[in-house]
Amino acid sequence: MTSRSGGRRERVSRVVVTGEGPILVEGPVDVVMDNGTVVRSARSLVALCTCRRSRIAPFCDTSHRCKVRAERVDRAGPLTSAGEEA
Ligand code: FES
Repeated sequence: MTSRSGGRRERVSRVVVTGEGPILVEGPVDVVMDNGTVVRSARSLVALCTCRRSRIAPFCDTSHRCKVRAERVDRAGPLTSAGEEA
């Protein structure tokens, strides 16, 4: 996205914070890791992992969805072998 500021064009990146999943960033982006390495994504929309479960960190691989499912099972109680609540 671009906008005018003082007669000069400037690029404004959009970052979307989702509730339970990744942070969505308009790409392409360079992600600077805590050890100083830079990981580049050329995609137009990049999902950055916030749950720390991704196997392709810093990018989201949808592993955060497994956490949600496990919590739902915990709330529902234990299941019998037939899939019914005990
Ligand atoms: S936010 Fe999706 S795997 Fe972590």
